[in-house]
Amino acid sequence: MLLASACAGSPPEVPLGSDGTADPVLQVGRGIYDSSCKSCHGAKGDGGAGPRLNSGELDEDFPELIDLAEFISSGRRRMPSFGSRLSEEQITAVARYVREVL
Ligand code: HEC
Repeated sequence: MLLASACAGSPPEVPLGSDGTADPVLQVGRGIYDSSCKSCHGAKGDGGAGPRLNSGELDEDFPELIDLAEFISSGRRRMPSFGSRLSEEQITAVARYVREVL
């Protein structure tokens, strides 16, 4: 049973900060990743229909958080654009989650 639930594919939990609580923005980002991104990029960012997001290459492709947020907002080829579906705050939250947690 434990294994089955581990395989069900929840995105990784937001680690607790030094004050013992998880950053609420990252938790919002995790929720968005779960509902809008994992179908293509995998629960842990391992990739699928979309490329891997957890290889460490993201920081090279998008050195600044704003570059990543703009990419998510506008999309590219088969990557859908989220600018009309998510608020700027939501896009920043999911961009931070992808960079800092995956
Ligand atoms: C319908 C499938 C799909 C969904 C849903 C999706 N993506 Fe993508 N994503 C892709 C594809 C395909 C690419 C490759 C785009 C290309 O051809 O350049 C991509 C590329 C990316 C990249 C660039 C990776 C790199 O190293 O260049 C990032 C970052 C990304 N997606 C984040 C997200 C986030 C965050 C979400 C949710 C808000 C999301 N994606 C939802 C399919 C998807």
